[in-house]
Amino acid sequence: MRLRLRPTGIGATRSAKSDFLSQIKRHLVASVTESDVRLELRDIVRTFGSTRAVDNVSLQLRAGQVTCLLGPSGCGKSTTLRVAAGVDRQTSGEVRLGGTAVSDDRVHLAPERRNIGLMFQDFALFPHLDVASNIAFGLRGPRRRRAARVAELLQRVDLEGHSRKYPDQLSGGEQQRVALARALAPAPDVMLMDEPFSGLDDRLRDEVRDATLDLLKATGAAVLMVTHEPEEAMRMADQIALMRAGRIAQSGSPYNIYNAPADPAVAAFFSDINMISGKSNGALVETPFGPFLAPGTEPGHDVDILIRPQHLRLDFDRNGRGPHPTVEEGVPARGQVERARFMGGHSLVELRMEFRGFMLKAVVPGVFMPPKGTPLWLSLRRDRCFVFARRGAKPVDP
Ligand SMILES: Nc1ncnc2c1ncn2[C@@H]1O[C@H](COP(=O)(O)OP(=O)(O)OP(=O)(O)O)[C@@H](O)[C@H]1O
Ligand SMILES: [Mg+2]
Repeated sequence: MRLRLRPTGIGATRSAKSDFLSQIKRHLVASVTESDVRLELRDIVRTFGSTRAVDNVSLQLRAGQVTCLLGPSGCGKSTTLRVAAGVDRQTSGEVRLGGTAVSDDRVHLAPERRNIGLMFQDFALFPHLDVASNIAFGLRGPRRRRAARVAELLQRVDLEGHSRKYPDQLSGGEQQRVALARALAPAPDVMLMDEPFSGLDDRLRDEVRDATLDLLKATGAAVLMVTHEPEEAMRMADQIALMRAGRIAQSGSPYNIYNAPADPAVAAFFSDINMISGKSNGALVETPFGPFLAPGTEPGHDVDILIRPQHLRLDFDRNGRGPHPTVEEGVPARGQVERARFMGGHSLVELRMEFRGFMLKAVVPGVFMPPKGTPLWLSLRRDRCFVFARRGAKPVDP
């Protein structure tokens, strides 16, 4: 929706001003409705004895959007999903569906009454039912209509011709697609998926993942998908919520969370990371690559500068000289190769810097295998560095 406002310049009358305000109010109300929040978690806490498995998690899922709940093992992802589904009940907080509370300290709607599709890690199909009956399992209504829905879904997941087979006659990827079709059959408003692709081998996983994503997008369901793989989250998500020890450490688009991490641990979750540490003099930190700005830090504060290995550039040593300093890359610094490894599409080169013996890793496309001891110059894209004052881990501008 576009907001059209009548100009209310200086000297506008009181009624013109209140018109203006009521237009803004209408616009705000409309935007909230338009944003179409299907599932909302508000301040969810789930404790098991003294463990706070989920510690004050709030999330909003919108129609047609995939949100990935990402984080290391044991951080509370599955528990959050189970609370959202209603198979577990939170200790405190509220679960809302389509703007209505379905679980708080007074009400708790059973999972089957929430119009939610569930797909868990083991996605157990019913072994005694054929594919068509598995998909039809959650469907109600006249037989003909159910059969038509099953046929439509079989086509969508590309399994026409398999409807009379039993689960043990299907490959892993085919079983997974049946499970997806079964979860989608009742046209749920919300899909909750817990590591749905973890049982598949790499190549099959990519294929099933892409097919699933297309299908989910086509149905317009709001999706919450649990994964512990950053790459999977980057590939699937419109929004990533990164969990750590029961809390959401950061949420945002894959691009933002990768390029503007809230703290060093978030940065390190998505790739190998280099850390260059130094002490602030109140405004600057000295590094092998020249001084970095560290505004807002006190003299003596520890500052960590983080950079991903693919944002380092390597140059050969020319009689003790490297490339010229540039505004973008600052001063180049010299190091010696410790180890170089070929990783397939790229090579990983580890260097010991002459300045304070820092170890840094650089990723170079293709084959680059310099022997140990080779002197090389490194430059870094300053706009790709993340600068954090260590205590309180507050980011400061590079
Ligand atoms: N029913 C339970 N009783 C006691 N503790 C539990 C229970 N369910 C989960 N926990 C604990 O809560 C924490 C979070 O568990 P959860 O299963 O949500 O983690 P996760 O992020 O899904 O991990 P993973 O990636 O390994 O699946 C863990 O410490 C776990 O041991
Ligand atoms: Mg889990």
